[in-house]
Amino acid sequence: MELTYTDKTPRKIQSFKGSDRKRGQEGDIDDLLTSSDVEHVAEIFNTPLTGSYNWNYKIQDDRIKKLYELGKELNWNAELDINWDQPWPEENIEQGAQLMNLADYPPYMALSDEQKQEFYVHQNAWSLSQFLHGEQGALLVASQLTACAPTYNAKLYAASQTFDEARHVEAFNKYIQQRIGLMYPINTSLKSILDKILTDSRWDLKFIGMQIIIEGLALSAFNTARETTPDPVLKELLYLVTRDEARHVTFGVNYLEEFVKTLSEEEKNDRAEFAYEACVVARERLVATDVFHHFGWDVEEARQRVMEGFVMSTFRNLLFQRVIPNLKRIGLMTESVRPKFESLGILEFEELPDDGDVDWSAMERPLDTGEAQSVEQQALQEQIEKVLNEKMAAAAADSEAAATA
Ligand SMILES: [Fe+2]
Ligand SMILES: [Fe+2]
Repeated sequence: MELTYTDKTPRKIQSFKGSDRKRGQEGDIDDLLTSSDVEHVAEIFNTPLTGSYNWNYKIQDDRIKKLYELGKELNWNAELDINWDQPWPEENIEQGAQLMNLADYPPYMALSDEQKQEFYVHQNAWSLSQFLHGEQGALLVASQLTACAPTYNAKLYAASQTFDEARHVEAFNKYIQQRIGLMYPINTSLKSILDKILTDSRWDLKFIGMQIIIEGLALSAFNTARETTPDPVLKELLYLVTRDEARHVTFGVNYLEEFVKTLSEEEKNDRAEFAYEACVVARERLVATDVFHHFGWDVEEARQRVMEGFVMSTFRNLLFQRVIPNLKRIGLMTESVRPKFESLGILEFEELPDDGDVDWSAMERPLDTGEAQSVEQQALQEQIEKVLNEKMAAAAADSEAAATA
């Protein structure tokens, strides 16, 4: 085993041979690394973790217990429950450019068709890599929560979530290496949120950061990705992961709703402030700037442009539709942060349903990736067509106006 410790997060893009995307273009995957070839790179973080035993082992027959039971029942196996043998899909690069608001962006227009294809591969690799790194963060936090959570049910739940997160890391890693063959480093803003959660001494702040912010974020990002990817393998994977995440968020909301009531006003404001700051970062900074950099673009200019596109606005909408009602439900939409959320223009989501009331029938739905996809796929296809039609109508009106002028 070769082990290297670093205090700097690696910034290099990694590539893997023999991916499905390049099948036939380069050697097969039989040159997989053996354990002696792997160089393990570990980045240290220190945390003043305050753990607790629980000695009465009281089993409260509540929602947390039910969620734990459900987690056991709905366990899945990435090797068996996903059909990895489906062909790599044709990509519609014109549609991609429209959805990302790049179709009339000069640096994008200057790319050849082949380079445009490559751009989407990088874009895709970047998103999936953030999912992977985020899942690793979730794995580490969930394991900390197992030690820190003060009650018996919550400890068992956090342990089962730890295993869920391990499977998520496994599945996204397999997808990236086997399917795309390209992995991006972690986005620096995502890393700063994870650092904060992992190294803070307050267990409930970890809980809020992970179960409400990061998982809320993940659910929105996974839903957007599932709706926009042309790859059936990714759809299956995201369906399975999303169902777990929905359970994790529900656990967080239910547990925190009780707990936040025990905090002082000052403590509540601290947590609310942290949640607000994480939301701002999530809203503005989780954009594939490393990809723009790789293609030699003006990073800030490209970021601004992509922020206004369909993909990012859908993501932002989904994100806050979930996080804002949940923050309110657990009592963290305090008077001190409320005006800040208002000035972001997202307080309107406050009255939407939160994840505290459990839709058990949706959560208990058996594994049936095919059915779940067709409904969502259709809804999205309609949405995409609507956007594209609007763009085409606007372009037609423009050229008509130019002709009559
Ligand atoms: Fe996860
Ligand atoms: Fe999770």
